Amino acid sequence: MDGFDVCLKGTNDYKDIAGSDIVIVTAGLPRKPGMSRDDLIATNSKIMTAVAEGIKANAPNAFVIVISNPLDAMVTLCQRITGFPHHRVVGQAGVLDSARFAAFIAWELGVSVRDVTAVTLGGHGDDMVPLVRYTSVCGVPVMELLEQKYGAAKAAEVMAAMVKRTRGAGGEVVALLKTGSAFYSPASSAIAMAESFLKDSKRVLPTCVYLNGEFGVKGLYVGVPVVIGAGGAEKILQLKLNAEEQAMMDKSVAAVRDLVATLK
Ligand code: LAC
Repeated sequence: MDGFDVCLKGTNDYKDIAGSDIVIVTAGLPRKPGMSRDDLIATNSKIMTAVAEGIKANAPNAFVIVISNPLDAMVTLCQRITGFPHHRVVGQAGVLDSARFAAFIAWELGVSVRDVTAVTLGGHGDDMVPLVRYTSVCGVPVMELLEQKYGAAKAAEVMAAMVKRTRGAGGEVVALLKTGSAFYSPASSAIAMAESFLKDSKRVLPTCVYLNGEFGVKGLYVGVPVVIGAGGAEKILQLKLNAEEQAMMDKSVAAVRDLVATLK
């Protein structure tokens, strides 16, 4: 009863994506309880190779959003195989990770999630970096509100628990579902990115993009805030990180780099 006029077609033939403006890749096995996203690399690399070849052959001008895990490695592989320019192959992870972080903050403070602006950086793995200092509620730094509620010591503890839950939220869903991973939230996150591209909205969304020196990272796909518009990943927004944040980012980047190095 939502009243969307859509034309939907299921197919197993890559020819049916001919001329697509946008391709969203969800193909791949999900995790089983207890697995990390990285454990999927061997199987999902094979699947991604076939998918990327299909995209290259049939939709050579598409903007590609990858959701498959391990995310940062799968985006890397998809770009390598398609050979598309880096700004046309990105990964969805940060929209989901920051939406989860924002939801936990909203529940904790009893406010609407629409008024929470949360930022996560880094790889889509257990070392991702929820950026507390740049996270706010209607412009008010989130720690100020938590400190008003709890005092400094307890506020730090409450935030640490929310950061930990954000890092493990994908695994939390896997443990509950037992035979699959989150589906609705990654889908709606990818749609936010697709809409920004199709409508040229230039939303600033945490996106897995190819960094060429930004954030001190060269030659690697990793999550940072990006302007998404008709040109794809149009612009990377640079943030000044303090020493602690940079150390967390470096750890996350190192984990992505190690995993990407195992790609054949
Ligand atoms: C998650 C998976 C899909 O974070 O990566 O839920």
